[in-house]
Amino acid sequence: MDFLWIKGGRRLNGNVYISGSKNAALPLLSATLLAKNQIEISNLPNVVDVKTFISLLKMLGAEASFDGKYAKIETLRVQETRAIYDIVRKMRASILVLGPLLARFGHCEVSLPGGCAIGARPVDLHLKALEKMGAEISIQSGYINARAPLGLKGAVIDFAKITVTGTENIIMAAALAHGKSTILNAAREPEVVQLCEVLSCAGVQIQGIGTNELEIQGSDGELLEIPPFKIISDRIEAGTYLCAAAIMQSCITLNDINSLHIQAILQKLQQAGFDYKVNGDSLELIPSKVIQPIEITTAEYPGFPTDVQAQFMALATQAEGTSIIEERLFENRFMHVGELQRMGAYIELDGNKAIIKGACQLLGADVMATDLRASSALVLAALRAKGETRIHRIYHLDRGYERLEEKLNRLGAEIQRSKE
Ligand code: EPZ
Repeated sequence: MDFLWIKGGRRLNGNVYISGSKNAALPLLSATLLAKNQIEISNLPNVVDVKTFISLLKMLGAEASFDGKYAKIETLRVQETRAIYDIVRKMRASILVLGPLLARFGHCEVSLPGGCAIGARPVDLHLKALEKMGAEISIQSGYINARAPLGLKGAVIDFAKITVTGTENIIMAAALAHGKSTILNAAREPEVVQLCEVLSCAGVQIQGIGTNELEIQGSDGELLEIPPFKIISDRIEAGTYLCAAAIMQSCITLNDINSLHIQAILQKLQQAGFDYKVNGDSLELIPSKVIQPIEITTAEYPGFPTDVQAQFMALATQAEGTSIIEERLFENRFMHVGELQRMGAYIELDGNKAIIKGACQLLGADVMATDLRASSALVLAALRAKGETRIHRIYHLDRGYERLEEKLNRLGAEIQRSKE
């Protein structure tokens, strides 16, 4: 296993180029199962989850090539409809093949993803919605066994909770279903919007894109022709680099971003005393002399994203005062707290609230990555810490960040990747 060695205290400057969004790429890779043509995808991030998803598609029988940025995928000859545990346990987003496989083939077996570090993360809402569309679903030896021999039929789906991949699964199922589907309480994340936009370019009639209410006219089982598309910029990666610059009170420029997708993040940075300048798809962060304490409550888009909560917690350790972060989406997304405390952070937990005392001198230490975004928070803390930090189990990072240490070293950090 690899670990990252980081020497703290180095200010950052210069340009960083943001990659394509992992969380946009995964549903769109799954959507290739709805098509009869070869699909060309550009701006894919070269991260482990994308490579895992492409190997899942190949296991199902798809023909796929991926050069680290571009992919060509054809699923016309897919026969296999079983997504095995060994793949799903590595990447819970594999659940995204459930809707397309069921809609196209009328049957599939997908391993239950199981829990993960940040919470139980059930998929009950995905299953209830598919049953509403006529699927017969049973759980057998850890697998979701789904049947819809006559195909799925359009239905009104009213999600009890906003679920990103749940919404994406049902959008893809509805695209091939017989008749019209209405999705209420749908997720509105930019990644969900891009899935809808790509499907509408393929001829699927979708009303309400970008809102919590979607109306989708199914193709009655007809496979789609999906034109080439480019993955949108990763707003979570952008938020991570903004926090890296902020914790080092440095001025950097982010390129290839969409500043409309990170408004909640920018508002919080302004509350913390930072400012920024937008110039097309670039954004320059203007450092603040004093970091103000912040109050954050995570929420579904367009609220403050849970995927940047850990990174802001690292930043909050440097604020002049006490910050409060409330995590409302996942029941266990404070795994980074213990590791930050080992670096000297003063953080108290009160249920799903973290109280972070600021003006803390972080000290380098050996720390353990636990989940994707918690790991990035440890990197940010290590950039600021006095001395050297070693972050272990960084396979978590490699799932969602492309060339992280290379991009940070280009900005002036001092990071090395080594083998344990
Ligand atoms: C997506 O996960 C993202 N992953 C997550 O990003 C992100 O943290 C999350 O949305 C919230 O924004 C991808 O897009 C691949 P949810 P998802 O279903 O879809 C509960 C990262 O770091 N729920 O919106 O799995 C669930 O337990 C990852 O890139 C049910 O109860 O999240 C959670 O509390 C981490 N039943 C809440 O809803 C269900 O059937 C939101 O989960 C589904 C969800």
